[in-house]
Amino acid sequence: MEADFRQTTTDKTERYQLFLPQFELFIGGEKEEVSVLANAAAALREAFGFFWVGFYLVKGEQLILGPFQGSAACYRIRKGKGVCGTAWAEARTLVVPDVDLFPGHIACSSLSRSEIVVPLLANGEVKGVLDIDSDQLNHFDETDRCYLEKVAALIVQTLYTA
Ligand code: SME
Repeated sequence: MEADFRQTTTDKTERYQLFLPQFELFIGGEKEEVSVLANAAAALREAFGFFWVGFYLVKGEQLILGPFQGSAACYRIRKGKGVCGTAWAEARTLVVPDVDLFPGHIACSSLSRSEIVVPLLANGEVKGVLDIDSDQLNHFDETDRCYLEKVAALIVQTLYTA
């Protein structure tokens, strides 16, 4: 199994285009949630060098911290709270160019400056969120949204569909 996600190109679109088929092959067929999410966080970190990348999973009325790469983070986020809880409540991707300007942003690291949160949507139900933080302002754009939604869809297809 090819598990080397390092990349040489600096073009973001090209990076995602190279990443997706490799990632699909890599996670395809495995159904163990923790294992797939742990490898997804590792692969994304290796390919893109994200400051923090990981998952929060829906459990009752809260999100709980799942597999991630980066500094230790908060355990629980209530529905509608922070960027993650809002993306869950609204079942849509949120791109936050400056976390200080997002009302109610939850700062797990004071170094985090911008953020993108993509829900894991299975048949309209949010199973969890993919959360990525940057230590740079304005790090994420429509290219990230477009391709990270494809990454989330691959994860959903692998884990949450029959
Ligand atoms: N900033 C997130 C909390 C999770 S950490 O970024 C890892 C939020 O506002 O929901």
